[in-house]
Amino acid sequence: MENKNLRVTQLSCEYTSNPLGIDILKPLFSWSIHHSERNQKQSGYQIVVASSLENAKKTFGDMWDSREVNTDQTTVKYQGKLLESKKTYYWKVRVWDKDRNISPYSEISSFEMGLLNPEDWQGFWVGKPGGGSPLFRKEFKIDKEIKRSRVYVSGLGYYELRLNGEKVGDRVLDPGWTDYDEVVLYSTYDVTSLLRKGSNAVGVMLGNGRFCPPDEVVNKNPYKLKKYQSYPIFILEIYIEFEDDSFVNIVSDSNWKTKEGPIIFNDIYDGEIYDARLEEEGWDEAFFDDSGWEFAQEIGSPQGKLKSQATFPCIKVDKILLPKELTSPGPGVYIYDFGQNFSGWARLKVSGPGSTQVKLRFSELLNEDGSLNTNPNQGAGATDIYILKGQGEENYEPRFTYHGFRYVEVRGFPGIPSLETLEGCFVHSEVRSTGSFFTSCSLVNKIHENIRWGQLSNLMSIPTDCPQRDERMGWMGDAQLVSEETIYNFQMIGFFKKWLTDIKKSQKEDGSVPDLVPPYWDFYPADPAWGTACVSIPWDLYLYYGDREILEENYSMMRRWVEFLHSQSKDGILELGKYGDWCPPWHIISVETPISLVSTWFYYRDTLLFSQIAKILGKIEDQDRFLKRAEEIKISFNKKFLNDKNFYGWTEDWYRTFLPSTASKEDKEITLKRLHRYLRSQTANILALYSELVPVDKRKTVWRELIDDIVVVHGNHLNTGIIGTKYILDVLAENGEADLAFKLVTQATYPSWGYMMKEGATTLWERWESLAEEGMNSQNHIMLGTVDAWFYKYLVGIQVDPHFPGWRKIIIKPYPVKDLYFASASLETFRGLISSAWRKDVNSFFLQVSIPANSQAEVQFPKMGWKNIVVEEGGENIWQKGTLVSQKEGIDYAKENEDRIIIQIGSGDYQFKLKEE
Ligand code: BGC
Repeated sequence: MENKNLRVTQLSCEYTSNPLGIDILKPLFSWSIHHSERNQKQSGYQIVVASSLENAKKTFGDMWDSREVNTDQTTVKYQGKLLESKKTYYWKVRVWDKDRNISPYSEISSFEMGLLNPEDWQGFWVGKPGGGSPLFRKEFKIDKEIKRSRVYVSGLGYYELRLNGEKVGDRVLDPGWTDYDEVVLYSTYDVTSLLRKGSNAVGVMLGNGRFCPPDEVVNKNPYKLKKYQSYPIFILEIYIEFEDDSFVNIVSDSNWKTKEGPIIFNDIYDGEIYDARLEEEGWDEAFFDDSGWEFAQEIGSPQGKLKSQATFPCIKVDKILLPKELTSPGPGVYIYDFGQNFSGWARLKVSGPGSTQVKLRFSELLNEDGSLNTNPNQGAGATDIYILKGQGEENYEPRFTYHGFRYVEVRGFPGIPSLETLEGCFVHSEVRSTGSFFTSCSLVNKIHENIRWGQLSNLMSIPTDCPQRDERMGWMGDAQLVSEETIYNFQMIGFFKKWLTDIKKSQKEDGSVPDLVPPYWDFYPADPAWGTACVSIPWDLYLYYGDREILEENYSMMRRWVEFLHSQSKDGILELGKYGDWCPPWHIISVETPISLVSTWFYYRDTLLFSQIAKILGKIEDQDRFLKRAEEIKISFNKKFLNDKNFYGWTEDWYRTFLPSTASKEDKEITLKRLHRYLRSQTANILALYSELVPVDKRKTVWRELIDDIVVVHGNHLNTGIIGTKYILDVLAENGEADLAFKLVTQATYPSWGYMMKEGATTLWERWESLAEEGMNSQNHIMLGTVDAWFYKYLVGIQVDPHFPGWRKIIIKPYPVKDLYFASASLETFRGLISSAWRKDVNSFFLQVSIPANSQAEVQFPKMGWKNIVVEEGGENIWQKGTLVSQKEGIDYAKENEDRIIIQIGSGDYQFKLKEE
């Protein structure tokens, strides 16, 4: 029976809605189901894929009709006829619920194939040798009615594509960064509405990006920057299909004309210089006289293979920010404060005499005197210069650079600028926001918001460390630490899947990977805490998106990495490493936590996780082999790092190396005591506790040592670098110290997130210290943003059940800390919306939960220190005197342990209330 309460929504193909130009031969379809009844599940589906909209409407699956498949699975791989280049396909799906009611068919979605074979590319790579930012143009005539038209284009480092005087699409800094020796991404655009019968013109503008940075930039960079070629190039194909089913291809070749454009300098770090006097009016339109232009040259293609980026979130201008304040610290010098640190650039509005040069400099900080402090930029010039043509109001924004900044300094402005002179453009990879989080504590909300700004500023087609200085690299340590935070906040699967390919391509024969990917700096082999990304990111994607194929696709990479770690180890200990518990308070390299301890811990964790992955994929031999190895590492870890005082960290042996051999016995003792006071490692104990490496009989001493160090030695402060910081709050919460964890976060004194906020941070810093002088002091790093995952997972308590990945089963386990009276979060997942919100007053604890159809949840209520607890749902008692007293729809079973009452629920909305009888 068809049931109108049941609907299929959120259709996506390769996690993207209606993608254009995919190059995956067996794409993955997914959907979510919406049911107005509680406790509902899918029991079957039918998917229909058609070669035309008409067929799809008629439910004629001429490409594929799955028929009814009985399963609760809401993802399925295409299993129909061969998909062809450039073709559009249409699909819809219907489902059966657990009572065998059937839904109406969903709305029709589409997907279109890109260029599947190298031969499909009819164009040539062209360029203008010697050119910094050349323009290319070509006119063509159309004499028939157009049915549809597409452009397939890639330009290295960056391109801007124009058709008949207009920019095509809204992507900027395109295509995405890759190692161009391995992969070159291309974009597909629907340009049907931009073409017309008669004369048309296509124009391409090129920038350097990472493909051909200027030599001066390469030479001043602290490490050898990879440079692929000395000038930019592009390839393009305009495919036009006519109403009579004939078609034509307009392609890039040596018939195109080229000339240097108005961008006379461009570099991602140093900025852009735009000379508007060199603009050629109408160069991207038909009937332009290009007789003075040269012919473009056909150039050999780059080494990397062309690959579609249709399912990869491209970079766009996300938001326009208006400046909050305008000051003038000196004659002719103006400072704009946007009130927020972010990645992107400024739009300038100016009128004045031709040849006037307006200079914009970007920075995150000001000096005491109100002038610009460019220290955090290090070697990045971060300067855009606009040279006026002198004709009325002129508007400028750069194309081939970006900056990380809060302040912009303007010099050389003709006249006096106003707040309207500049707008800020927030630019980053366009990942969809999927998470929201809000509590009764404005400081916590502020930390969360800062993290979102910082995170987005660091998604620039790869996960970067920072947007302002001359790095902006895909440091794997930073990315792996915050991958859960990103996944809670944004739809990351397309972004990370692409980056995993980058990582795979960067892996060497011996299994090593670099610290940063793509390897624009040659940093091999990675510190284990950085390289772990090649195991932990596939794992996180599997956990949160339930995509097993990601584990399969990356299995051999993971295995080779784990084997590499093993090859570098000796007696179960891994000395290999460079950074360890990076950037703890006061230091860059930790003095408290040995690098080998952190490396060995990751060696253990990756090996164990890999054995678990082998198990999931049914690879029993690997499962056993790596499990056994992990057990051995565990023994070595304890042997080496569990000291004679029964906690982890430096051992006395090591302390002794500080002592002169001539020291007296008393001196030795005093020094050892002192060293012990200063060289206690929170991180060492946290890591051991987190991974349950601690022998049962030593748990107490290790825990006591950790708490004593936090509470007594550091006066309720953490003393961890980026590694320990990711786990400290989890370990505290899991062991009954959620209030202490909360204090570490919100503490207004150094070091803590609260302290950063107090000091005016609008993103997160790289270091715990407030630093404005030269050195490593990015104001927009994301690696300490791990706390945000803790907000979602612990404060609100939305966790994924690892046995039912992809939110098939959800665990709701809130930690209502003393200083909060409510906390809430919601997540838009591929299965639908998950939300949870708690509130408490003196006698009651309220919890509102929404679970999407086809998922279930285990709600773990905190007992709040109460004795005889009653749980109500929707005003009706469901739990009393230690047992379930009602059989309400959706409430499956309940049990309790020392701290929690645990109730299993089906999908739907629930209003719980907990009180003492
Ligand atoms: C980067 C980091 C990175 C680190 C490696 C720094 O310069 O900005 O975030 O992980 O180097 O140690």
